[in-house]
Formats: sequence, structure tokens, C-alpha cells
Amino acid sequence: MNATNTLMPPVALAAASAAPVLPESAPFTSAQRAWLNGFFAGMVSGGGGAGVATPGIPASDVAAPTAPAAEEDFPWHDPALSLPDRLDLAKDKPIERKLMAAMAQLDCGACGYVCQSYAEHIADGSEKNLTLCMPGGKDTTAKLKELVQLGIKTGGASKPATPTGNGQSAIGNPAYSRSNPFPARVVMSKPLNGAGSDKDTRHVVFDLKGSGLTYKPGDALGVWPENCPDLATEIMELIGASGAEDVPGPDGEPMSLFEALVRRYVITTPTDDLISLLGHDPVDGLGVVDLLKKAPAERRPTPDKLVAALSPINPRLYSISSSLRACPDQVHLTVGVVRYRNGAGTACKGVCSTFLAERVRPGQKVRIFFHASPKFGLPVSGDTPVIMVGPGTGIAPFRAFLQERAAAGSTGDNWLFFGDQRSSCDFLYEKELTDLQRAGTLTKLSTAFSRDQEKKIYVQTRMIEHQADLWRWLEKGAHFYVCGDAKRMAKDVDAALKQIVREQGGMSEEKAEAYVADLTKSGRYQRDVY
Ligand SMILES: Cc1cc2nc3c(=O)[nH]c(=O)nc-3n(C[C@H](O)[C@H](O)[C@H](O)COP(=O)(O)OP(=O)(O)OC[C@H]3O[C@@H](n4cnc5c(N)ncnc54)[C@H](O)[C@@H]3O)c2cc1C
Ligand SMILES: NC(=O)c1ccc[n+]([C@@H]2O[C@H](COP(=O)([O-])OP(=O)(O)OC[C@H]3O[C@@H](n4cnc5c(N)ncnc54)[C@H](OP(=O)(O)O)[C@@H]3O)[C@@H](O)[C@H]2O)c1
Repeated sequence: MNATNTLMPPVALAAASAAPVLPESAPFTSAQRAWLNGFFAGMVSGGGGAGVATPGIPASDVAAPTAPAAEEDFPWHDPALSLPDRLDLAKDKPIERKLMAAMAQLDCGACGYVCQSYAEHIADGSEKNLTLCMPGGKDTTAKLKELVQLGIKTGGASKPATPTGNGQSAIGNPAYSRSNPFPARVVMSKPLNGAGSDKDTRHVVFDLKGSGLTYKPGDALGVWPENCPDLATEIMELIGASGAEDVPGPDGEPMSLFEALVRRYVITTPTDDLISLLGHDPVDGLGVVDLLKKAPAERRPTPDKLVAALSPINPRLYSISSSLRACPDQVHLTVGVVRYRNGAGTACKGVCSTFLAERVRPGQKVRIFFHASPKFGLPVSGDTPVIMVGPGTGIAPFRAFLQERAAAGSTGDNWLFFGDQRSSCDFLYEKELTDLQRAGTLTKLSTAFSRDQEKKIYVQTRMIEHQADLWRWLEKGAHFYVCGDAKRMAKDVDAALKQIVREQGGMSEEKAEAYVADLTKSGRYQRDVY
């Protein structure tokens, strides 16, 4: 452990990194404010701060580290609340927060943003499409329309000056964005699982040369996928089309039916419009092809009618698994490939994960953009210890953190909890991690292979086993990070963390809740879950 890491409670730690902080009244969204505060904090901290040159990376290209920005409270960010209740909780907030409250609060990424950034992009005028929140459906779209009209009338939804808040990372090239993605060359897409695995996880590398784009560890990458051409062909056959027919794209521009089905529209999950066009009752879990097969021949639509009933394709977000300091001109992803059978027994492929795993080839160009994560990033000081919990693809940002800390020569301790199914074939990045351990960058590595024995062992099992040590790290000011599955893992890890605080800190349930809430508020408990 580093001798400079003396016992430091959360509040003292926040105060220790004193830097200019923009007032709430400054004309920026909270994301922009958080980024700017992080930038100032990086400048004040000096070592490893904004613009510090690293071999191979010009000073102007180095992203500022994220300051542990105070967590803004989003009481409506709970998918269990009804739409009216969520809106009520945001009623005194600025337009971008009201818009956020109208979203389904799942941060599912189906829109190519998370709820907060989708709302902010609508508010700053950079996103015009109000129909992207799939889980929120028509109710969300209707409310967004109403709020935008109201915002424009009252001057609330205006486009701010710089920074654009368009998802560019800290010092990125503003020429590229979600709506103007960079065509990045694929360097590789290689399997990370070994023989005998039930999973298919890919290491995907893109070349950024010539883009001027930068990112920081903790940011995400947006990828515009293409559909499987076999699925497009099956749909064309079902409606008796050749694919050469002219149809309008989502923005009204003419294109061939084949191009529209491969690149521009969702052809996996049906919209309500398609379901009613085909005369079906809403059926959960069936795909576009299943519904077309079930429809009587006379109800099968013409190419024009078909595309009019489809929704535009959206990008997917992936946590970045590389650091620019260690991998200049590259961005790496760790992608879990989605394949399953739906209710009709049809084999289904996740659009973007199978695009990256099966359909792209080295040298091919893929449209990408950066999505900054102002609330997920390394501590400003390289001396601060970090605890990272990242099972499965959740390892992604922590590979980036470790690369960054090794390349920057940071002296803070690093503890990784990694878990997956089997040690023999699912130990993602095993060699890299054991090398980092040998080199002393990875101070502690705790693994949990769930299917190596009869009884499941998960990352939280290991946390509890090492609870005295984990508590010592927290009391020394460690930042605690979680990435991966939101539905089960992140909840169970949160419960384990609270249990450790209760048992090791000798606290009541209430006090432990307050301790963990304090960690969150001071930016020391950060999650990137999906
Ligand atoms: C901030 C953020 C970071 C992320 N980081 C990563 C990352 O680092 N690595 C990663 O792999 N993913 C990550 N994701 C998830 C990623 O964005 C995509 O959602 C994922 O790759 C699936 O996209 P797809 O296009 O392949 O699948 P889609 O075509 O979108 O299909 C996924 C959908 O298929 C359905 N489905 C899936 N499995 C089943 C099943 N067994 N039975 C029935 N239906 C099913 C569900 O409706 C699911 O929503 C992240 C998401 C967010 C929001
Ligand atoms: N939003 C999306 O569209 C989307 C897309 C892709 C993935 N995801 C989510 O991302 C997750 C990550 O997928 P992944 O393939 O990388 O890994 P994963 O499925 O999360 O599995 C990684 C390890 O976590 C274990 N695990 C299961 N339940 C757990 C729990 N409650 N607590 C702790 N560990 C638990 C698994 O064990 P067992 O399997 O043996 O139980 C496995 O050993 C998926 O589970 C999925 O929910 C979401």
C-alpha cells in the first residue's frame, strides 16, 4: 500500500482536491458542468491532469481525468415509478431534467444514449428524434413532444455554446458525433473465450488514426450497427420484393429496400405500427420475420408500407476497454455476443454484438462516436486506491483503468474483482491481468468462477470473504466501482457493500445506508451498469 494513503474520510478526500467549481447558475447543463469541473480539477492536481503529455500522445490530445464530481440527485431515475410520478419529481427542474424524467429510466442504451444524455441532447437541439425511448414507448414520445414544445416557447430548450455536450469526450474532435460518426477501420474482432465456453465475448479494436478523437478511461463508444443481410433477404422474400425497389429512408431520402433494411431500420423487433398493419394482436417476443410469416399473404405489405411501419436503427453503447496512453490511436471494446431463441423458437441475433462478432472484417469501416461518462472515471489523484468490481463484460472499463494507471505510473493501489462462468475458458484477459499483477499495478485480483464448483461463487462472495480488507481500503479513501449486469449483479454487489459497511464499520442499517450514500455523493462509488 502507498504510504501517502493515510486514513481519509469521504468528506476530507473531497476537500483535499479543492479546485474551482462552476456555480449552479453557470449556463451549462449538469453534464457540461461536471466535465468542466473535472477539467479544472485535473489542471489543479497537475500530475496526470488535463493536457499532460505522455509519450506518443500530444498534450492537447490527453483527456482530462474526471473529478469526483458531486452526484446530482435524480429522484425520478427509478423505472418502478409511474410517468406522472417521475414528472412530478422533476417539476421544478430545468427542461433537460424534465425530459429525462419522461424516459423509462432503464439506461438500456437502446436509444444509443443513456436516459440523462438522451434528454440533454434533445434539450440542446442536437437530437431531433423524440421516438427513441423504446421501453417508454408512445407515452414517453408524447410527453417529450409536449415538453419540447413548451421548452421552445419558454426559451428553455436552447442550444448552448461550447462545449457542445454532444457526447464527445473531453478534448475530442467536435467534427465527429453521434449524428456525424467517424468511419473507423476495424483492426480486429477476436474471441476471448476458450474451447468449452457457453459464452462468446469479443475483443474488438478500432483504429482512430486521422480522426483527432480522444477519450478517457470510463467513457463509452457508440457504434452504428448494420443488420444481418440474411435477415433482410428473408424479409424481402416474405413480401415478394427483390430489394432493388426505391423506398424512403428515415429522413425521407431515397434508397433501395435492401439498403434500408440492412442499414437504416430495425428489422428484429416489430413496432406497434407493424403489428397492426399485419393484423396481429400484440405478441411478446416475436420478431418481424415471425409476424410476416404468420400474416396471411394479402396482408403482407408493399416495400413502402413495410418501411413506413419500421423504426430507425439506433447505435449501441459499449464501455471502452482501452486507454489512449497505452494504446495510442486505438479504441478497444469487450463485447458479449447476444444470441438466443425467441418465443417462436426462431434463432435471434443481437444486432450490434453479432455485427461486431460475425460480420465485420479487419480493414472494414464502422461508424463510431464517443459518449463521455462524466460520472464514471478514475480519481483525479493517481495515489488514490481503487476497488473495481467487473464480472463478465463488466471488466471492460477496468482494463482501461489499469492500462491508464500503469502507463501514467500512478502509485495508487488497484484491486479487481472479476467473475465469469469457468476459469478454464472464461477468464477474460487472464494473461494481461496476471502480467499486471506481477508488475505490481494490480495490487489484488479476486476471481469468482461461478460454474467451477456446484455452489455458485460470485464477485460479492469474494467481497464478503475479504470484507475486513475491503473496509480498510474504503477507510483509506478508496474509490469503489461496479460495471456489468444491472439487473442482478449490481444490486447484489450493492447489498454486499452495505453489509460490509454495517459489519466492519459497526453501523446500523440506517448509518450504513448514509455512509454508502455519502460515497456516491462524493464520487467515490461509481457504477456503469447496463
Ligand atoms: C452505457 C452502456 C455500456 C455498455 N457496455 C457494454 C460492454 O462493455 N459490453 C457489452 O457487451 N455490452 C455493453 N452494453 C450493452 C450494449 O449496448 C448492447 O445493448 C448489447 O451489445 C446488445 O446489443 P445488440 O444490438 O447485440 O442486441 P439487440 O439487438 O439490441 O438485442 C438485445 C435484446 O435482445 C433481447 N434478448 C437478449 N437476450 C435474450 C434472451 N435470452 N431471451 C429473450 N430476449 C433476449 C432483449 O430484448 C435485449 O434487450 C452497454 C450498454 C450501455 C447502455
Ligand atoms: N442491456 C442489454 O441489452 C444487455 C446486453 C448484453 C448484456 N447485458 C447484461 O450484461 C450482463 C453482462 O453479460 P456478461 O456476459 O458479460 O456476463 P454475465 O452474464 O453478467 O456473467 C458474468 C458472471 O456473473 C455471474 N452472475 C450471475 N448472476 C450474478 C449475480 N447476481 N451477482 C454476481 N454475479 C452474477 C455469472 O454467473 P452464472 O452465469 O453462472 O450465474 C457469471 O459468472 C448480462 O448478464 C446482461 O444482463 C445487457
